[in-house]
Amino acid sequence: MLRFFNDGREKKYKNEDISIDLNNIPKHIAIIMDGNGRWAKERNLPRVIGHKAGVETIREIVKECSILKVKYLTLYAFSTENWKRPKDEVSALMNILAEYLKKEFKELDDNNVIINYIGDISRLPNICQKELVACHKNTEDNTGLTLNLALNYGGRDEITRAFKLIYEDIKSKKINEEDINENMIANYMYTKGMPDPDLIIRPSGEQRLSNFLLWQCAYSEFWYSNIKWPDFRKEHLYKAIFDYQNRDRRFGGVK
Ligand code: IPE
Ligand code: IPE
Ligand code: MG
Repeated sequence: MLRFFNDGREKKYKNEDISIDLNNIPKHIAIIMDGNGRWAKERNLPRVIGHKAGVETIREIVKECSILKVKYLTLYAFSTENWKRPKDEVSALMNILAEYLKKEFKELDDNNVIINYIGDISRLPNICQKELVACHKNTEDNTGLTLNLALNYGGRDEITRAFKLIYEDIKSKKINEEDINENMIANYMYTKGMPDPDLIIRPSGEQRLSNFLLWQCAYSEFWYSNIKWPDFRKEHLYKAIFDYQNRDRRFGGVK
């Protein structure tokens, strides 16, 4: 069935009746980009080819989120636990990241995207850190989609870091013990100033958070799919948004 979008484009999603309400687009979408390795394995290819194929999906989804006027897109690209992987895979992932930033910077900037990162990037190779800092600096005045790349990111690590920062600020009398409340704690997270994710998407069949956005996900809607990240297309994003729009978010209240 063809559906008309108010930007004048026609969109098709299989035979399902998909009609996304453009006035109810999630402000913040977070994606656990999973399944690259299994995608490659199914094709008898090395895992790194799966990661490269995953970059194509990133391109498509970032573009689509911009068009749909999503304000924040957070992509889980490398967790604090992913260092356990073979050295070769880790360094291939870092190279892919540096290459992605170099190659995509201009188009992202032209599309008004703010390139941001969350996580402790100090452990990443210098080249990645440099690219990230430069990309952020050169796009921070843009006004479109904020693209958060979660790199060496772990929810527990983020919360632990927040504890330490709060302790330091109390010690130096910048804040008082009485100032501690939920909003204040949120300001010590990497996502300071951003809305919590409305929708968390995880492809590949796994139904777990794997240490992603633990503080922020309190009332996020979860959407899982068996599709592996390299096969994830904008149609899957529409379906996730459509399902999200048909959920009843009660936030603990009654309607
Ligand atoms: C996600 O794909 C990419 C990263 C975690 C960096 P995986 O590499 O986890 O793919 P699977 O889960 O092994 O299929
Ligand atoms: C989560 O995927 C991390 C990223 C997508 C970056 P993993 O593949 O590392 O998670 P587990 O090991 O299946 O929980
Ligand atoms: Mg995985």
